[in-house]
Amino acid sequence: MHPYVFINAAMSADGKISTHERKQVPISGDLDFQRVDKLKFGADAIMVGIGTVLSDDPSLTVKSEEFRRKRLNSGEDENPIRIVVDSLAKTPVDSDILRKGSGRRVILTTRSAPSERLDALSAAGAEIIVVGDRRVDLGAALERLHEMGVRRLMVEGGGRLNWGLISQGLVNEIYVYIGNMILGGDSAPTLADGSGFVDSRGACRLELISHEVMDNGIVVKWRVTK
Ligand SMILES: NC(=O)c1ccc[n+]([C@@H]2O[C@H](COP(=O)([O-])OP(=O)(O)OC[C@H]3O[C@@H](n4cnc5c(N)ncnc54)[C@H](OP(=O)(O)O)[C@@H]3O)[C@@H](O)[C@H]2O)c1
Repeated sequence: MHPYVFINAAMSADGKISTHERKQVPISGDLDFQRVDKLKFGADAIMVGIGTVLSDDPSLTVKSEEFRRKRLNSGEDENPIRIVVDSLAKTPVDSDILRKGSGRRVILTTRSAPSERLDALSAAGAEIIVVGDRRVDLGAALERLHEMGVRRLMVEGGGRLNWGLISQGLVNEIYVYIGNMILGGDSAPTLADGSGFVDSRGACRLELISHEVMDNGIVVKWRVTK
């Protein structure tokens, strides 16, 4: 059994989720930040790839005090379980995911990760889950998360993790904020990177759920149909 998985991302009008230097850019505005915070509030866990941890160092905490209080009042931790997909356990021990906010942190890793890195991350408060030999086995990881009680999993990128999940048919919905800027760059990350599908027959198909104008852009919600 797997959790219900949704990807949330902000991208430029040309489909980039950051610059070609992989530097984080504010693509959306205040209203969208509130929308994203509400999604975190409603999620059991939030997942990112190690690329995002190394380039953006996000804390992935719920920002609204009211939402954190509501979670506590309903018996949950203030923040959803924060998860890094990290085959070689490269997550820095002083990363904001490990330093900021309360709640559980999980490093999904593999048998190739050096034991001293695993020890250091455990000492920093992370739970270590080994799934796979060289690369995190995402399907097995989702099963383990379901066993831990995770029913709604929010994925906050980046492009390679999104691709890994989408290409294996593990995503239920995709929410994208499309902002009013062009970032350009052949190598700038996009919503889904990786090797890509060979042709349109193999492509991941989507059904439009809704679209909404927000700040100076638009939020599009898709359901994955195949
Ligand atoms: N605008 C937005 O909404 C948004 C959100 C998040 C990130 N970003 C941007 O996205 C960029 C980072 O994206 P990224 O693609 O470089 O990194 P990423 O998707 O965050 O992480 C990718 C890494 O995850 C690890 N991984 C382990 N198992 C995997 C699997 N089965 N499938 C896929 N990945 C697996 C791989 O590293 P190992 O092999 O070492 O494990 C892989 O390189 C940054 O520039 C960041 O600013 C933008």
